[in-house]
Amino acid sequence: MKIAVSGASGKTGYRIAEEAIKNGHQLKLIVRKGSILPESLKNCEKVAVDLANKEDLDRTLKGTDALIIATGARPSVDLTGPARVDALGVTRQVESCKRIGINRIILVSSLCAGKLFHPLNLFGLILIWKRCGEDQLQKSNLEWTIIRPGGLTEREDNLDSEAILYSSEKTQEEGSIPRRLVARCCVDALSIKESVRKIIEITSNENTPRIKMREAISRF
Ligand SMILES: NC(=O)c1ccc[n+]([C@@H]2O[C@H](COP(=O)([O-])OP(=O)(O)OC[C@H]3O[C@@H](n4cnc5c(N)ncnc54)[C@H](OP(=O)(O)O)[C@@H]3O)[C@@H](O)[C@H]2O)c1
Repeated sequence: MKIAVSGASGKTGYRIAEEAIKNGHQLKLIVRKGSILPESLKNCEKVAVDLANKEDLDRTLKGTDALIIATGARPSVDLTGPARVDALGVTRQVESCKRIGINRIILVSSLCAGKLFHPLNLFGLILIWKRCGEDQLQKSNLEWTIIRPGGLTEREDNLDSEAILYSSEKTQEEGSIPRRLVARCCVDALSIKESVRKIIEITSNENTPRIKMREAISRF
């Protein structure tokens, strides 16, 4: 498949791109002006685009089979970031996919999306705006999958001893997961039809029984 990855300069986004390459996909990296990509992606096709520019976004996404959205507001004193990026930015990407006929979208969201009373909401009500972005995707009639990870870590070592706990919407509220494993889940979801129109919550630890994504999510 030819996969567009938005937010490809982010710490989860670049790992999604790396995992997609490992799985034999072709890539189009979607970044913004000034975004910095790691060396590992230097040979990939990349396009800098303002998500608010419909025509540019449509042109950029054209010719791809699926979009993985890994954009997210960067921590900032500007508290409008979550509304602009996690709600409006996601909505604009979904709208573009609808206009040009990209049918498959994977969205990286967050555990507790939609929860009002949560310390993370001190940053611009981020969990509320993330839920708005999710909602637009769910209403789209496209083949969507929403991945809701717990707290993201940078750990890259011993990931083979780590098992992922997959669960349905609103079943996990705490826990963490390395970004690398989130990236693998996003890429795996592309080829697992049982993931279509599902919200999948994920954390990881060493004590969870090892189970494949397809098997885990076909139970909910
Ligand atoms: N941090 C956590 O513990 C946690 C937990 C659960 C879920 N999440 C969510 O998981 C996702 C990935 O998180 P992360 O920490 O790996 O991401 P990150 O490193 O903060 O990367 C964010 C990405 O979004 C892009 N971006 C930000 N504002 C943008 C805008 N206005 N227009 C276009 N692109 C924009 C950034 O581009 P630049 O490189 O140009 O800035 C970057 O590529 C996010 O949605 C995050 O909210 C995070």
